Amino acid sequence: MNKLIDNSYSHAKLDVIKEKSLNYVIKTFDYDLNRVSCNISKQNQFTNKTLGNVSLMSVPITEITKHKREISIKMPYIDGLNGSDIILYSHRSNFISFLNFVESYFLESFKKVNYENVDANILLKKVDDIFSNIRFKIPISKKTIVNSINKTKNYAFPIGDCHGDFTLDNIIIGNDGRFYLIDFLVTYLETPLQDFVKLKQDTEYGWCVRKLSKSDQTKANVFFDKIKALPILKKLEIEHTKEVKILNLISLLRIAPYVRDKITENWLVHQLNKITRDL
Ligand SMILES: Nc1ncnc2c1ncn2[C@@H]1O[C@H](COP(=O)(O)OP(=O)(O)OP(=O)(O)O)[C@@H](O)[C@H]1O
Ligand SMILES: [Mg+2]
Repeated sequence: MNKLIDNSYSHAKLDVIKEKSLNYVIKTFDYDLNRVSCNISKQNQFTNKTLGNVSLMSVPITEITKHKREISIKMPYIDGLNGSDIILYSHRSNFISFLNFVESYFLESFKKVNYENVDANILLKKVDDIFSNIRFKIPISKKTIVNSINKTKNYAFPIGDCHGDFTLDNIIIGNDGRFYLIDFLVTYLETPLQDFVKLKQDTEYGWCVRKLSKSDQTKANVFFDKIKALPILKKLEIEHTKEVKILNLISLLRIAPYVRDKITENWLVHQLNKITRDL
């Protein structure tokens, strides 16, 4: 459980408490409180579902305490493993369940989308916001990004529900066999493609293994390749090439304002360099 506290990347503080022999996670935020409130609602409004033989739910937030400059939330502690633990340390059968889960999750998300033309200005505004908050030198100029976005006037996005921060660390396989989602995020554009690019942040760019040894990274890559080869993910990449390319770029850029350590900074610079080559 100590790992839980080390795992937190955002500025939120995580604690585990015990009450009447049950464990709870207390997460405290002291930034972006309006946004945090929206994220909490998103987590609690998630409709639990059964995907094939997989049961999926969000971890319910059972208590919200608002102070002037802080919000604390309480939720049950889920005994189990998160997605990156599964990839690195778990039994193969868990990984197979995980693959099935990812496949069914995206199939289900795309059942309920509506295709809408999205004005490039929505994307440009987000880029503007990000650039005004970046505190170190990134290897790509705002102008290059703006030009790349403007190459397409109307983007056809599949609009529909998404988690918003669908990284491996935000997915837990419970010891009860269920899948649990935590850490929902309201985004500037609600599309399941956001979940796709967040998954790519791990499987293609190695976000969750960026601080690990080369040998752990190599081990993870074997599994990342299997996730990337899932038919639904291949299909999304082909059918939404332009949209994925831009969302992917913005999604990586969104990390920049939160970078606090050199490893993450170097990781991000490296990934942005790679992406810039095919803009
Ligand atoms: N309710 C919970 N039950 C079990 N484990 C949890 C729970 N909440 C968080 N964790 C564990 O702690 C880790 C970090 O939690 P969380 O994602 O909420 O933090 P974070 O600071 O938002 O991290 P990041 O911003 O990198 O996603 C998770 O990957 C998970 O392993
Ligand atoms: Mg998280």
